[in-house]
Amino acid sequence: MAYETIIVEVEDHVATITLNRPDALNALNAQLLAELSKALIEADANDKVRCIILTGSAKAFAAGADIKEMSEKSFVEMFLGDFFEPAIEAVGRVRKPVIAAVSGYALGGGCELAMMCDFIIATETAKFGQPEINLGVIAGMGGTQRLTRYVGKSKAMDMHLTGRFMDAEEAERSGLVSRVVPAKKLMEEARQAADKIAEKSMVATIAAKQAVNRSYETTLTEGLLFERRLFHSLFATEDQKEGMAAFQEKRTAQFRDR
Ligand code: HXC
Repeated sequence: MAYETIIVEVEDHVATITLNRPDALNALNAQLLAELSKALIEADANDKVRCIILTGSAKAFAAGADIKEMSEKSFVEMFLGDFFEPAIEAVGRVRKPVIAAVSGYALGGGCELAMMCDFIIATETAKFGQPEINLGVIAGMGGTQRLTRYVGKSKAMDMHLTGRFMDAEEAERSGLVSRVVPAKKLMEEARQAADKIAEKSMVATIAAKQAVNRSYETTLTEGLLFERRLFHSLFATEDQKEGMAAFQEKRTAQFRDR
């Protein structure tokens, strides 16, 4: 379907979703979030797609929720509309890996959206922040919870209370992003990572994603048990036999998601 605020391209096994509201630095309004949710659900359901890249423009991944759209809303409208929750849920429901490729500003809801992805590749120009405090509010799409888990309490408090931005170097050092690359290499690097992921057995890929995400939700003992059960269950797949045979035969494995 045709979207107005995002661009969706599927090439080989990778779906790339580009946030596209250049005049507003990709600020997240209701339309964009609805379209993004729909595109993510479609990509997840598309058998051809094995990895998803979410990106923005060189200047902004996304400068946050759309302040102009939000500014006049009442408590009741925000509360009854469960502002942004349906979109957030949609990102969380995607089973295939989602890479955030971030250049420029990833602020407020933009930072939170990047953190909902499975990992973040950033350019040297990337700037992360939770500046909602400057607007008289706080993060509302997971920033207080996810940023704290990514970078720890001290830096998360610093970011949320002062509203300061974190540059790419600090973000990598703090564990917020997995890699920092030169601006012009961003999509090439993200694409290479996506292609690598696409080569694997989808069964193992989804199991790995679920197991890592579980670590945020449970105790160590339960998480270890969950991991072990998934690990054991992968021995029921043909892909496990193929992967281990290929290693011993010194050839590349041909996974078939079976
Ligand atoms: C609406 C935005 C916007 C936003 C930028 N724009 N951010 N519009 N919502 N979040 C618009 C500007 O109004 C302007 O349009 C155009 O994009 C370019 O922005 P400039 O400010 O002129 O660019 P620049 O001077 O380069 O500054 C870039 C910036 C600044 C530092 C990123 O735009 C900025 O501080 N933006 C707001 C960041 C922020 O506070 N984010 C948190 C939002 S709250 P016009 O037409 O005016 O020229 C949030 C809550 C999430 O995210 C929780 C929800 C549940």
